[in-house]
Amino acid sequence: MFFSEPFLKIYSESLPDNNMIIRGEKPSDIELISETTKIAFEDYSFSHQTEHFIIRDLRDAGALTISLVTEVDGRIVGHIAFSPITVSDGTTNWYCLGPVSVLPDYQGHRIGTAMVKNGLALLKSMGGKGCVLVGLPTYYIRFGFENHPQLILEGTPQEVFVAKPFIGRVPNGTVEFHQAFKQLSVVEKDTIADVIIDYDIGGIRVDLANPAIESLIEKEILIEMPDGKVMMRTSVLEDYDSYFAKVGQFRAAEMSRVHKNPILTAVKYGTNA
Ligand SMILES: CC(C)(COP(=O)(O)OP(=O)(O)OC[C@H]1O[C@@H](n2cnc3c(N)ncnc32)[C@H](O)[C@@H]1OP(=O)(O)O)[C@@H](O)C(=O)NCCC(=O)NCCS
Repeated sequence: MFFSEPFLKIYSESLPDNNMIIRGEKPSDIELISETTKIAFEDYSFSHQTEHFIIRDLRDAGALTISLVTEVDGRIVGHIAFSPITVSDGTTNWYCLGPVSVLPDYQGHRIGTAMVKNGLALLKSMGGKGCVLVGLPTYYIRFGFENHPQLILEGTPQEVFVAKPFIGRVPNGTVEFHQAFKQLSVVEKDTIADVIIDYDIGGIRVDLANPAIESLIEKEILIEMPDGKVMMRTSVLEDYDSYFAKVGQFRAAEMSRVHKNPILTAVKYGTNA
């Protein structure tokens, strides 16, 4: 179910004269949501700056269960997303909160609080039984989120994985977020684009000490061969977005231009190339 009706007017004591509303996203908001998210996360070292891709991929997959924006005087300044999760014990109707973002100039005015509270209320009214998220417990405890040792998100430290049941008990098992959350960092994407260009049927040699290569091997996107070369998992282009394909095509065209042009070849590889 996708919620897109106008929602409610909110009030912030620190922005008393502004006209603030929270409402469901409209098709015309998509670019601005992406921009807002990108800007909000830009200066945080914990972020891989892929949050806007997560929202886009959730939307494309029909998994953006709730997408709310905050508008201040007609300008979008905040966004919150909710998407379904699966739990290994078979529990249904649990959701993930996030990403949530507020433009830096508007942070600290209770906009985030209003979006979280209203998003959770909406989720509950739609039949949601509970919600999880990865975030700082010091912020999310105020909304009733707590760590529950029996609920696990693999690869995530237990203390930053928190849950809030609306109804019944907290599930017992391992949680899977939607595939859209398995975004690669920009560095990893660039590395893959390079690998695509250099790729030939027998695999290529890569610098195994490069942290991006190491993490791609860990994620089984690149697979180590016994001869020290790596192969790329064949489904990788479909699994992730079309970014690789586009960058790959662009770089391949650029490389072939370089190879065909003696001056560019000299610039790229030195005069002895
Ligand atoms: C987190 C965020 C959505 C909160 O929105 P906001 O409108 O600034 O928050 P509010 O005004 O409702 O709440 C302010 C309170 O939250 C705290 N807070 C804000 N961001 C926080 C963070 N990242 N971690 C811990 N506490 C935070 C403030 O210190 C303040 O605490 P207080 O009530 O004790 O004074 C916003 O700061 C943001 O977009 N941050 C960058 C992106 C991000 O970190 N998103 C969350 C991870 S998914």
